[in-house]
Amino acid sequence: MFFLRFFHLLKINFYIFGKIIYLDMIDNNKDSLGIAFNDFINGEKDAVVKVLCDIADEDVVEVKYFFRKYDELPEIEKIALDNCYGKILDVGAGSGCHSLILREKGADVKPIDISKLSVNVMKAQGLENAEVINFFDIKDKYDTLLMLMNGAGICGDLKGLDLLFKQAKKILNKTGQIIIDSSDLKYLYKEDDGSFKINLSEKYYGEVFFQVKYKNFTSEKFKWLFVDYYTLEDIALSNGFLCELLYYDDSYQYLAKIILK
Ligand SMILES: C[S@@+](CC[C@H](N)C(=O)[O-])C[C@H]1O[C@@H](n2cnc3c(N)ncnc32)[C@H](O)[C@@H]1O
Repeated sequence: MFFLRFFHLLKINFYIFGKIIYLDMIDNNKDSLGIAFNDFINGEKDAVVKVLCDIADEDVVEVKYFFRKYDELPEIEKIALDNCYGKILDVGAGSGCHSLILREKGADVKPIDISKLSVNVMKAQGLENAEVINFFDIKDKYDTLLMLMNGAGICGDLKGLDLLFKQAKKILNKTGQIIIDSSDLKYLYKEDDGSFKINLSEKYYGEVFFQVKYKNFTSEKFKWLFVDYYTLEDIALSNGFLCELLYYDDSYQYLAKIILK
């Protein structure tokens, strides 16, 4: 399903005079995903959201996917959680599914999200320390920054990814790490002979636009970044970080562990 491979929500980025302006939080009326999460915990277990993307057909996603339990996690996410240590920040925690699993295992985890509705849903499920805060505004120090479901997506584009590393440097302890997964969209450009036809003079091929619909609620259009491993590694290196590949599969999904040099 396209969405499950690519959707990793967002933080809505606007460009004004070449600068990225990050919204601090999502307007409740435009927060179609947060509204869907809320309906789900209130009994609408068959709820679905529609995801529109500028490079793919409309996709329909079951909201229950966001509430996955440990046994329902894809292998890549199990490995991610197994690699977490110390004080963990669950960035863009959504429904809080990973934080709930980590907390059950006794981990010290703090879920954050820019969606007030999602944070309410996390609190309703017992994640009392969930907070409405933008990752880029975090000041406390952490050992693990957990960024799952195409975690770099919140950066919107490659310039934003650079800012992510600058922020990570400020808030990671010296032996800290970023655990992040992503899809490499290059497979969309695969030719019959196995080569990839990508126009390098256009914007980076992993920068897409999404919009989420639920009932009669429609989100803003938001930018989302799918970064390939080598580009991630380059930008990490230029910011003083080292990347290690923890997982890679034949559908071009990967998990990386990133530490300070
Ligand atoms: C696709 S959801 C992923 C949820 C969860 N990590 C998962 O794997 O199910 C991405 C979440 O990131 C949140 N988000 C986007 N930008 C953010 C930011 N700058 N800081 C914190 N959360 C952010 C969105 O509101 C959304 O809930």
